[in-house]
Amino acid sequence: MLWNFVFLQYHMFEIEKKVIEEENQGKPTLLKGDIPAGAKKLYLESYGCQMNFSDSEIVASIMQENGYYTTQNLYESDVIMINTCAIRENAEQKVRKRLTEFKSLKKKRPSLIVGVLGCMAERLKEKFLEEEKLVDLVVGPDAYRSLPDLVGEVNSGQKAMNVLLSLEETYADISPVRLGGNGITAFISIMRGCDNMCSFCVVPFTRGRERSRNPETILEEAKQLLADGYKEITLLGQNVDSYLWYGGGAKKEFKHLTDEEKSASVNFADLLDMVANINPDLRIRYTTSNPRDMTDEVLMVMAKHENICKYIHLPIQSGNSAVLERMNRGYTREEYLVRIAAIKKYMPDCAISTDIICGFCGETEEEHADTKSLMLEVGFDYAYMFNYSERPKTLAERKYSDDIPEELKTKRLEEVIAIQRDLSLKSNQKDLGKTFKVLVEGTSKRNENELFGRNSQNKVIVFPKEHFKPGDYALVKVHDCNSATLLGTAIL
Ligand code: 5AD
Ligand code: SF4
Repeated sequence: MLWNFVFLQYHMFEIEKKVIEEENQGKPTLLKGDIPAGAKKLYLESYGCQMNFSDSEIVASIMQENGYYTTQNLYESDVIMINTCAIRENAEQKVRKRLTEFKSLKKKRPSLIVGVLGCMAERLKEKFLEEEKLVDLVVGPDAYRSLPDLVGEVNSGQKAMNVLLSLEETYADISPVRLGGNGITAFISIMRGCDNMCSFCVVPFTRGRERSRNPETILEEAKQLLADGYKEITLLGQNVDSYLWYGGGAKKEFKHLTDEEKSASVNFADLLDMVANINPDLRIRYTTSNPRDMTDEVLMVMAKHENICKYIHLPIQSGNSAVLERMNRGYTREEYLVRIAAIKKYMPDCAISTDIICGFCGETEEEHADTKSLMLEVGFDYAYMFNYSERPKTLAERKYSDDIPEELKTKRLEEVIAIQRDLSLKSNQKDLGKTFKVLVEGTSKRNENELFGRNSQNKVIVFPKEHFKPGDYALVKVHDCNSATLLGTAIL
């Protein structure tokens, strides 16, 4: 279930950036459009994965319908909402710190409303209202439609909370207010929740059961984005490979559908094909894949369409089958390698990234060595690497002891980061002399005469501006690189 490209900055790709949430944390939403005079102002801050950023756009839409417009200026806001992440302990600590910072504002202005949304709200529920006295509002990921009513309750002097999870909510009919973006790339949520129950993961508890969104509404949203000038969309889900629409409602396995439901059903390969057919100039990405569910059918659809980017994020977590078993991942090292071989068979030029957790419960030196050898065997183009962080209520917390000392976790993490830095550099060096179609996303942070964009493989390429502007496609020939970025010159 990775990750966020809302604030598309090429420096995000530096390998030193171990924890992607750290890069995304707290970037305030941008003010879009004119605010009607007298409108109330909402300051919305998002942490965590792309799904959270996408959810914030739904929240902004629901609030705007009810007269609250987003502002970047914390000090002029009537309501502060912080959309939170619970995936690791350090993600939660950052939110707590931020909440204490809001405290002084609230002291000066008691009418200011502070709300906690998202995964931490779902995890901690009333504890937020009881312990963190400065919070007025606690709302979980499936309850955003009730936000305006809850804000009303707070305005009348009460504390308010809704953390009900749903089997069906997909916010399919809500047209997101695009926040903080570049007007070129956007997210579309295609499903919510997760049924996988990986033993380390808190998401099934914070985001509830898996459910897929009506494909017609997904296509409509994609067409609208194209009409609004967007050039690239990323389809989002915790486990996109198990996307299955059969007419609505909670998730069902394909084999459990009636014949009628089966013939009308849309799986992820079908959906990808439909979205890719909208327009060849609209680029399609998606995340996140799951090794246990990824089908060859999806790979064939990817190979068929030039506009589906040749990039797959396929989290491995560990290269050792016994650890994978303890993690309840549902595949072995060998099965993962079979999936990698399939990707390379259908798309020899496809880039592959992964997620790795270091120091999971009981991880031995040999098991850790298997992760390192797998990284070398696959030759990942990029990786997101984390220390294991025990999460309350998860299977791992109940079943295993978090017995790897922090220093050892960090030592192992440093080892895998060093390997990945080397692999990323090698992967980039292979691109020297090649020419790529790049979608320009913005001006380089380091040099205003240079632009940056991405190729199909999701690699960031920086090149001199010439006559190009954000939103253009440029053909760029690569002449230099480091482990994070390709440098080139536009030839067309
Ligand atoms: N500790 C460390 N990393 C975790 N992830 C998920 N849960 C945990 C945890 N408890 C990582 C996994 C996942 C990514 C989104 O975050 O690698 O793929
Ligand atoms: Fe996203 Fe929630 Fe997972 Fe954080 S815990 S990464 S917000 S789904």
